[in-house]
Amino acid sequence: MMHITPQAELSRHHTFSIKTDCDFLVEASSVEDLIEIYSNPEWEDLPKLPLGTGSNMLFTDHFAGVAVLNRLKGKQVTEDESFYFLEVAAGEDWPALVQWTVENDMPGLENLALIPGCAGTAPIQNIGAYGIELKDVCDFVEYLDLQSFTVKRLTAEQCQFGYRDSIFKQQLSGKALITRVGFKLPKNWSPKTGYGALQQLIEGEPTAKKIFDAVCQVRQSKLPDPRVMGNAGSFFKNPVISSSQFDELKLHYPSIVGYPAGDDIKVAAGWLIDNANLKGYSHGGARVHDRQALVIVNFNDATALDVLSVAWHVKQTVWQKYQIALEHEVRFMGRTHETNLDAIFEGKANERL
Ligand code: FAD
Ligand code: EPU
Repeated sequence: MMHITPQAELSRHHTFSIKTDCDFLVEASSVEDLIEIYSNPEWEDLPKLPLGTGSNMLFTDHFAGVAVLNRLKGKQVTEDESFYFLEVAAGEDWPALVQWTVENDMPGLENLALIPGCAGTAPIQNIGAYGIELKDVCDFVEYLDLQSFTVKRLTAEQCQFGYRDSIFKQQLSGKALITRVGFKLPKNWSPKTGYGALQQLIEGEPTAKKIFDAVCQVRQSKLPDPRVMGNAGSFFKNPVISSSQFDELKLHYPSIVGYPAGDDIKVAAGWLIDNANLKGYSHGGARVHDRQALVIVNFNDATALDVLSVAWHVKQTVWQKYQIALEHEVRFMGRTHETNLDAIFEGKANERL
């Protein structure tokens, strides 16, 4: 029997921990549960929202629909001469999975340590950190097709992974529920220690365990723990701009941080926000985090409007100062539909929020 809660409080189910609720909250532990929920005639007209741990979510309103907690569990390992193959159900906890692979000598995921969320959500924005992205370790993704109610499989190639992007945010948005992810980890492992200060934190020969520990250490020093202070990680994506615009900005701001991205440059949004003196900028109970300017925190009983007001101010300031349009990485759910900052603030530009 599935557990269904009407008028459920959602604050425990998203890491901003802002008080809000939904019409129904239901836990799905199998593909059959998912099919039952999505084909329930009583819920036919209600919007539905799959949720892992809500670590990339902001609810901007009461959610007048069915929030579906993905609790599909289980993992399997097979191997051949060259690879370990992991098949992981979508509801497995990502950070626990990474730790388990490191402890069981199946290296390859260690750079992605401590990223909150479920394994099945990881492909959606192609999670990335410390020099690797999910696409580098992904073999396949399985999903329930919400039109045919059949399970389909995509190869990593077919997932069209990009920076914080995949087919699940594009053509398959709203049409697919991820149920299982396959990983392919080469036995001929090579360490990736090129990102930032990672190398300096590792003594001697790098091992997966040493990298795992170093990544955990850097993350814990910069990123606020959502159990202590609500947040959803980087609020904005790092913007990609032309190299001519970057060169121009560099003349004015010699310390600006950017990395090559094809012919373009990916700029560190944290630097842009920090350099605009926005660290600590607050509205009500929300503010720009003082150790990582790309993170917005709920430091004191923030409302969604507090977070949105901080985000809008950051976006406006960055636009005015550098002519760079920030896009948010965090997904917004409104009353019945996914929404975004521009849609919320357009037309309200003259009101003081
Ligand atoms: P949720 O927030 O629950 O859902 C995210 C989106 O996916 C929603 O739109 C939801 O409807 C949809 N969804 C959820 N499950 C499914 C499913 N099974 N099928 C279809 N759609 C689904 N991200 C990084 O890439 N790198 C980082 O380093 C990083 N660091 C973070 C640090 C902190 C402290 C926090 C709070 C977040 C961080 N994030 C990072 C963001 C977050 O961890 C990832 O986006 C993660 O993949 C979200 O997983 P989740 O299960 O919590 O997703
Ligand atoms: N910076 C500042 N001030 C700040 C923050 C950053 O000057 O307040 C500078 C740093 O000094 C550094 C550069 O900006 O030179 C990049 O900073 P950092 O290494 O902290 O990474 P980031 O670009 O801010 C990205 C991801 C993170 C991921 C880290 C590590 C995005 C949007 N964010 O952050 O992912 O963990 O790199 O790889 O790409 C997330 O997506 O939620 C997330 C946390």
